[in-house]
Amino acid sequence: MYHRHKIFEKSGILLTVGILVTVAIGGVVEIAPLFYLESTIEEVDGVRPYSPLELAGRDIYVREGCYVCHSQQVRPLRDEVERYGHYSLAAESMYDHPFQWGSKRSGPDLARLGGKYSDEWHRQHMEDPRSLVPESIMPPYAFLSKRELDLSNIEASLKANRAVGVPYTDEMIENAVLDAKSQVDPFSDNYDALLARYPKAQIRDFDGNPEQITEMDALIAYMQMLGTLVDFETYKAEENYR
Ligand code: HEC
Repeated sequence: MYHRHKIFEKSGILLTVGILVTVAIGGVVEIAPLFYLESTIEEVDGVRPYSPLELAGRDIYVREGCYVCHSQQVRPLRDEVERYGHYSLAAESMYDHPFQWGSKRSGPDLARLGGKYSDEWHRQHMEDPRSLVPESIMPPYAFLSKRELDLSNIEASLKANRAVGVPYTDEMIENAVLDAKSQVDPFSDNYDALLARYPKAQIRDFDGNPEQITEMDALIAYMQMLGTLVDFETYKAEENYR
């Protein structure tokens, strides 16, 4: 068989074609199965689309470039798991468009931030990071506490996410503005409906100023839910590998 290899070695063109055919077969074997899988992400209990307020907060996170200094993925390495908590699951960022995994950690990873600090800590830290962490190099974002949250495009934002595969229902889209407003008001009549649409949504005034819905409200709502949707007391990785 080897003596026939001469044919390829003597002709540059034949050799090139031979290489292309071999690489193409390898490529097809690797890529074709992906088209037959319904999803490459295992669904995990608890993961749901962002509530309108959380989504607005996420947009502010993207707008302000927080991802330049912060990652949102806990890698399955011992030091990371001990510092941040359970490693990130693919399903936890399945509704992120674009995803916020990040590529640089000037500050800590934020994938498991939810519940780590109080709302008041976040407000003060965002307004003046060095008042809490004297050696911090994080820039202050005090203006977020004064800026009213723009809800005029929140419906369109849910629709755009639906267009790329996030399962927002018509009901969620119709109620987007109401849901955003009532997530900062624990006494609203929409309380139960909001929780039914977005289980585990945290409903309270986040920025300590009940007079106004600010960009700080949205950003803190987003930060407080990060990494909290999956219940790792009951989550069993093995079940998902079966
Ligand atoms: C120039 C880099 C930089 C940018 C941009 C930045 N941060 Fe930070 N961040 C840091 C550093 C450094 C720390 C660690 C010191 C501290 O806590 O202030 C930090 C800490 C944090 C913490 C505390 C995390 C923890 O677990 O203790 C939060 C929350 C946070 N940043 C949120 C944000 C948000 C939200 C934005 C965007 C509005 C942002 N950061 C933008 C550098 C940055």
